Amino acid sequence: MASPRATARQPSTLSDALRERYKRAAARAAAEMIEDGMRVGLGTGTTVAHLLPAIAERGLANVRCAATSPQTERAGLALGLKLEDLDELGGLDIAIDGADQIDPSGWLVKGGGGALTREKIVAAAATIFVVIASQEKAVEQLAPPVPVELLRFGAGRTLAALGRARLRGRLESPDGGLIADYLGAVGDPRELSERLSGTPGVIEHGLFPPQMVSLIVIGGEGGVQRRGGGKPLG
Ligand code: 5RP
Repeated sequence: MASPRATARQPSTLSDALRERYKRAAARAAAEMIEDGMRVGLGTGTTVAHLLPAIAERGLANVRCAATSPQTERAGLALGLKLEDLDELGGLDIAIDGADQIDPSGWLVKGGGGALTREKIVAAAATIFVVIASQEKAVEQLAPPVPVELLRFGAGRTLAALGRARLRGRLESPDGGLIADYLGAVGDPRELSERLSGTPGVIEHGLFPPQMVSLIVIGGEGGVQRRGGGKPLG
C-alpha cells in the first residue's frame, strides 16, 4: 500500500487554500492537453487529486488510463475514468504527475507519496510527460530528502551502503518495497542519481532527469506558467 507523505517538506508561506488553488490551476491546464482516444498515465498525490475530476469533467469517451497507485486507481474509478493495467495499454500517449521539487534545469524529486517506482515507469512509458505543481515546488537547488524504494531483503545493509538514509517508518510502496529517504546533500543530481541507482538493493529513487520531462506546468500568483523539459512534446 502506498504511504501518505511522511518526508520533511519544504517550508511554505502559502496558505492551504492558495496552495490548493495553484495546484488545481496547474492540474486543469494539463487536463486540457488530453485528447479523446489517448492512453493516459495518472500520477499520485494531492495535485493529481485535482487532475482526476478535471479529466472526468471533459467527458471524453475513449480515454484509457493507467494509475500509479491504488489511491489514484480508486479515485479515478469513482469518477468514472477507465482504468487499465499499464501492460494492457501497451504504452502511453501522455502521463501527468506531481513533484516534490523542481529545479531550474528540470530535475525533479518525486516520491513523497511512496509511488516513485511506478511513477518513473509510467513517465518513461509516456510519449509526453507533464509535471503539475504549485509554485512552491520550484526550487533553486534540490535538497534532501530524496525518496528511495528498497528491496526488503537486506534493507539494513542497503541503508548502511547509502550512508545518510532512513526508513520512512513502516511505509511501503504499492508493490511492497520499503520506502526510505536519502538525507545526504543532493549536490549534482546526475551524480547522486547514478550513485543511488548503483547501490544494490535500491529498486528505484525519486530523482527524475530533465530528459524524462516534456512540460512543467506551475500554478502560482501569476496564473499558470509552462516551461519545456528535455523530452519533446510529441
Ligand atoms: C508521489 C509523488 C507526488 O507526485 C509528489 O509527492 C507530489 O505530491 P503532491 O501533489 O501531493 O504535492 O511523487 O509519490
